[in-house]
Amino acid sequence: MFNDHLARGARGRVRAAFATAAAAGLAVAAALTFTNNAQAADTLGASAAESGRYFGAAVVPNHLGESGYVDTLNAEFNSIVAENVMKWDATEPNRGQFNFSGGDQLVAHAQANGMEVRGHTLVWHAQQPGWVQGLTGDDLRQAMLDHIAGVAGHYAGDISSWDVVNEAFEWDGSRRQSNLQQQLGDGWIEEAFWAADQADPNAKLCYNDYGTDAINAKSTAIYDMVADFLARGVPIDCVGFQSHLSTGADLSTYQANLQRFADLGVDVEITELDVGGSGSAQAEVYRTVTEACMAVDRCTGITVWGITDKYSWRSDETPLLFDGDYQKKEAYSAVLAALN
Ligand code: G3I
Repeated sequence: MFNDHLARGARGRVRAAFATAAAAGLAVAAALTFTNNAQAADTLGASAAESGRYFGAAVVPNHLGESGYVDTLNAEFNSIVAENVMKWDATEPNRGQFNFSGGDQLVAHAQANGMEVRGHTLVWHAQQPGWVQGLTGDDLRQAMLDHIAGVAGHYAGDISSWDVVNEAFEWDGSRRQSNLQQQLGDGWIEEAFWAADQADPNAKLCYNDYGTDAINAKSTAIYDMVADFLARGVPIDCVGFQSHLSTGADLSTYQANLQRFADLGVDVEITELDVGGSGSAQAEVYRTVTEACMAVDRCTGITVWGITDKYSWRSDETPLLFDGDYQKKEAYSAVLAALN
């Protein structure tokens, strides 16, 4: 059963391609080390690449015209994800009419600058366009399948990993009672993964959620789903841990939680990291999360949910690595040190 999962050749090819890219990164890093007299890499992306990982940021295309924003992105990050422009409301505002302008802009920017692109997100209960919200039964099912085919098909070959399904569980481990769950029943998540596999056989396919920063009822329900998918050959490759955190977060089982998913046979990714707070307390949380990822072989990378505090969805909590003037914060130094 597990071998069936490994045997799906297309995914194997993509892993090999990224391994080659990582090896190239290592060669570059080795050359830099040689010429720089054994200094550690001094950007987030280059430091992550030394262990074959990525360090990414959620990006908004409208900010790419701002020099501080784009210069920081290009200097520090080697992966990007769309904060909003690849979601259902942005990509299919009317049924069957797709708008890829924002996503295409991000992909072009990434490819011109040697960055990977994560895909976020194909199916989610939030940010659905209005026309989806009134659909029922098989009509909604067909709309979901057509959406996945349209978007994942358009970006096929450009995406390292897709958040196929986002936030489908409640804190107590039950399924979220969204329109998808109520109209389509329990099978809708695996139907989405099968459709994504067909549309883009090369992207790794992830389930992504928040509140999974510990071994708890929610993460255990997701763990059980992944184990079941793997046992039945449903195409899932990775689990995204959003990690929207604060300085009070209990991270005592954070690494063990990542490791138990890795031990099941999927990659794990930190997909939306941000930490409300400031100073050393904030830096320590960032350090703990980064060290946890570095300690888990199958933790393939970290994405922070934005570049600068001023554009964060929780900007009043100053949760990111760069302040509003793109100055590096204490948290930045903690992450860089942990990556190195
Ligand atoms: O694009 C419209 C714009 O036309 C309009 O004038 C404006 C007025 O409010 O709204 C704009 O849309 C907003 C969009 O961000 C782009 O700025 C939406 O109202 C707003 O709801 C949306 O918020 C995003 C949120 O997801 C949606 O739920 C945040 O930027 C984004 O950071 C956040 O990201 C989510 C992840 O996708 C999933 N995990 C949690 C994370 C944080 O909530």
